[in-house]
Amino acid sequence: MSTTTTPQQALNRYSRTLTQEVTNPAAQAMLYGIGLTEADMDKAQVGIASTGYEGNTCNMHLNGLSVHVKKGVQEAGLVGLIFNTIGVSDGMTNGNDGMSYSLPSRDLIADSIETVVGAQWYDGLITVVGCDKNMPGALMAMARLNRPSIMVYGGTIRTGSYKGQKLDIISAFEALGKKFAGTISDEDYKGVIQNAIPGQGACGGMYTANTMASSIEALGMSLPNSSSYPATHEGKQAECRAVGKAMVKLLEMNLLPRDIMTRQAFENALTIVIVLGGSTNAVLHYLAIARNAGIPLTLDDVQAISDRTPLLADLKPSGKYYMEDVLAIGGVPSVMKYLWQNGLIHGECMTVTGKTIAENLAEAPDLDFDAQKIIFPLSTPIKSTGHLQILYGNLAPSGSVAKVTGKEGERFEGIAKVCEKEESLMEFLANGEVQPGQVLVIRYEGPKGGPGMPEMLKPTSAVMGAGLGNSVAMITDGRFSGGTHGFVVGHITPEAQDGGPIALVRDGDRITIDAVNNVLQLHVSDEELSARRANWVAPELPFKQGILRKYVKNVSSASEGCVTDL
Ligand code: FES
Repeated sequence: MSTTTTPQQALNRYSRTLTQEVTNPAAQAMLYGIGLTEADMDKAQVGIASTGYEGNTCNMHLNGLSVHVKKGVQEAGLVGLIFNTIGVSDGMTNGNDGMSYSLPSRDLIADSIETVVGAQWYDGLITVVGCDKNMPGALMAMARLNRPSIMVYGGTIRTGSYKGQKLDIISAFEALGKKFAGTISDEDYKGVIQNAIPGQGACGGMYTANTMASSIEALGMSLPNSSSYPATHEGKQAECRAVGKAMVKLLEMNLLPRDIMTRQAFENALTIVIVLGGSTNAVLHYLAIARNAGIPLTLDDVQAISDRTPLLADLKPSGKYYMEDVLAIGGVPSVMKYLWQNGLIHGECMTVTGKTIAENLAEAPDLDFDAQKIIFPLSTPIKSTGHLQILYGNLAPSGSVAKVTGKEGERFEGIAKVCEKEESLMEFLANGEVQPGQVLVIRYEGPKGGPGMPEMLKPTSAVMGAGLGNSVAMITDGRFSGGTHGFVVGHITPEAQDGGPIALVRDGDRITIDAVNNVLQLHVSDEELSARRANWVAPELPFKQGILRKYVKNVSSASEGCVTDL
């Protein structure tokens, strides 16, 4: 904790009330104007940031949840003030130009929360967030502001169903691949699309949203089980009502985000990502959150954690089960308890309950390895080391991130099929030009070239749906969705737009992906690469104004977390 204070000093930490009285009576007048009373003027003010909006299932219920949060905050004797920021649903932007806005939205969310809380001088911050970029954006803002903060996750979605088969968002993309391959009828295609998403909540596998929610709980920045309650579960509303009380404790203890987000806490978060088979996007986001929290964290740290951490969870996309199934076995706290008891996570880290991880876990039920089959025991892991592997080599001198669960094998050697942007791969697939043994090289999809480092969910799902998932590999300077499975390497740095070697690959080149020795190698001589480089010209970027223009000018590389304030 930063300092010890009395509760009253804590509630006036930023001297908002006192300062406004002396220097800005208009501010106090406005607070009376919004309906606050004289008694409220002595209470701490908590900003409640919601990324709620109507247009998609991950965010549609968040404004409703933030009303429950506000009630709990007020019952706890604080003033709660709701404000909104933007969100982007990757599920809706995947495969179209809208995807360029997705990763930039993370930093825009961080900037906007920082702006409101900084400007309005709130004593504390609660964020109610529900999709891939919203969570890291919220955490980046918390790290920058360093005022007592708690994240509330909107919760996972329930599974859909059609003809007795459980469905989720990935089923919709894979149905498209089956359509290309002619292995699904029009009626069944429609049936899948109409039934895959049954209502509110974030995509239901261990995709990016559930990966971030689970690991942020392990980081200590949300209440226990925040990541496990589905959006429609009664526990979610109870959690919303409970955060007010937790916020009072944080204010009284002066327990700040940077007291919680320590080096050990980031190790806990990344350990959970790996144990649960989480998304490659977590690498990008934790590099960015750590940078905002002033904690040095690199790709090599991720590899070191992956080397010592087994993959234990049989969860989608590579496995069988969904996030909604995790609550029934005790939720993320039970998984954490098992890891803590076996020395895989640090129990001494503080959390937003005002207690340590170990103290929080004392009450969590033990995993029952006879009754449940979602989490494998450490004695028989799905994979003895992590599925996230950092590869270097002449194709990725500054690094790349591979997702290798072992089901796809750990080595792939093949012939390059170059796709300038993801659209050309979709064309090749539709024309039957994608063949077993190929390494599909999708380039000019990096943070600058994309722009915005789009996810390749549509191509990877279509490749799976076309039945080529086990016979081709895919490499890109873009990202992969948390829903992606198959032999994939993303985040290749330097990106093609910056003249990275991926820009120099030609059809027919031989490429080796070796996730055992962590190498991504293009089998072309240095002389030949130099000759190709001499003829290479960076393509002109299409955006001349607006946020994407600003993004391209400011964004750092994927190996640096794509932050925009370096
Ligand atoms: Fe929002 Fe998947 S698109 S959680």
